[in-house]
Amino acid sequence: MEKQLDYDVVIIGAGLAGVYTALMLKPSLRIAILSAGPISKTNSYLAQGGIAAPVGVGDSPEWHFEDTMVCGHGYNSSRAVHKLTNEATEAILNLEALGVVFDKNADGSYFLGREGAHRLERILRIGDYTGRGVMETLWQRVLERSNLSIMDDAYVTAIHPSYDGCQFVEFATKDKMVRLGAQKVVIATGGLGRLYARTSNNEGIYGDGYALAMKAGLGVAHLSWVQFHPTVFYNTQGMQEGFLISEAVRGAGGLLKDSKGQRFMKDVHPMMELAPRDIVSKAILDVMKKCGSEHVWLDVTGIGSKQMHDHFPTISAYCDSKGINLDVDYIPVSPGAHYAMGGIVTDLNGMTSMPGIYAAGECAYTGVHGKNRLASNSLLEALVFGGAVARHISEAVEAIGCDGNLSQTEMAPNEGAIDDLKALNLANWMDLHMGIVKDEAAIRGMVSVLENSLASIQNEAFSVTRRREENALLVRLKMMKEVLAHDSI
Ligand code: SIN
Repeated sequence: MEKQLDYDVVIIGAGLAGVYTALMLKPSLRIAILSAGPISKTNSYLAQGGIAAPVGVGDSPEWHFEDTMVCGHGYNSSRAVHKLTNEATEAILNLEALGVVFDKNADGSYFLGREGAHRLERILRIGDYTGRGVMETLWQRVLERSNLSIMDDAYVTAIHPSYDGCQFVEFATKDKMVRLGAQKVVIATGGLGRLYARTSNNEGIYGDGYALAMKAGLGVAHLSWVQFHPTVFYNTQGMQEGFLISEAVRGAGGLLKDSKGQRFMKDVHPMMELAPRDIVSKAILDVMKKCGSEHVWLDVTGIGSKQMHDHFPTISAYCDSKGINLDVDYIPVSPGAHYAMGGIVTDLNGMTSMPGIYAAGECAYTGVHGKNRLASNSLLEALVFGGAVARHISEAVEAIGCDGNLSQTEMAPNEGAIDDLKALNLANWMDLHMGIVKDEAAIRGMVSVLENSLASIQNEAFSVTRRREENALLVRLKMMKEVLAHDSI
């Protein structure tokens, strides 16, 4: 069966960058949003802390700029950081115009939270479920828009860029393969945290967007620049659920303690528990090694269960479900893979090395975060650079122009079983050897093992499962080779 169906823009991914870009594109454009699952499976949906913006009394874009640069160890692109911090307030106003309601004080000013390496309170929040709050509101706006088509069981298997103004995207649904054409494609596929066993990331976040980009010949850089969040809940029963204890809890007075109940950040950094994330994560790892423990403790007894419940209802309920009494007990936490600072290389309009293909959000590399992202700059990045992509495309694309050709074939995507054990073993291996500390000898050995696995997968018949495995291998190999070339953190 063949059908003719044109789009002006195809957006791959339904996290904040994808959805906001779609809403900011001019409404005369016909837009398809492709995603492998519902919005609740995106990392944006899980975001707890909030969105950094210099909207508080006495704050300024310059201070936000400086804190971002210091945190990124000066590896940031200063042009990208200027854009981020200068356009932050406008992005927040845009969200409010779309119906998002942030927490406010009694006098109507924003209730601002504090997170690591920010010199003052700067985090706009909706309780401790900011991502869910923002995403659910924006999704309502998406459903109201007649120019947006949503395909939420679409696993993209290939992007074919072209210079003649029509890009092609191939994807698999449950029962068929589809190929469609569009003038512009926006990759907004998020990060890669699930390549690790200990992670804060949602299910399914395996770095597919990076692999698609590499296969399409787009520039990709610094995939091994992975940020480890210091406080992912450590499940003492062994199984990791990837539940985050927001840095905002330390901002509200949570203290990190070792197995003897002693604070240790005082000796490490003047900002103590609110030092930059990479410093806190490394300090926790050192303490875990010294104490021979799998985790450290987060003590919130000084905050108390009442305030925890009022300000952090999601975290409070999760701890309750684990039998933790926040007035008395400590929370077990350890670092986990959280955010990819590298990605698909773009300019400040979000354009990749191929005209017609853009990237935004976590999957993009503008250089804005340097080697260590400042807390709560990620949702902001999705807004500012998603907005830039939308502006650039809206100016470039007239009306419906691409003679794209959506063809659907009844060919089943030939699903095979995922080898869960192999995937888990590899993820555990990543924790051990590609984590906060990198083990070059182990990595060198693993590169040749993975290259062999990749060759055998590429020889197999097409199936979505094999493509998924191939993508994860390609990304892991790129990360490992960067480490061996000494481009890592
Ligand atoms: C958190 O709430 O700790 C996460 C915020 C972020 O990663 O920016």
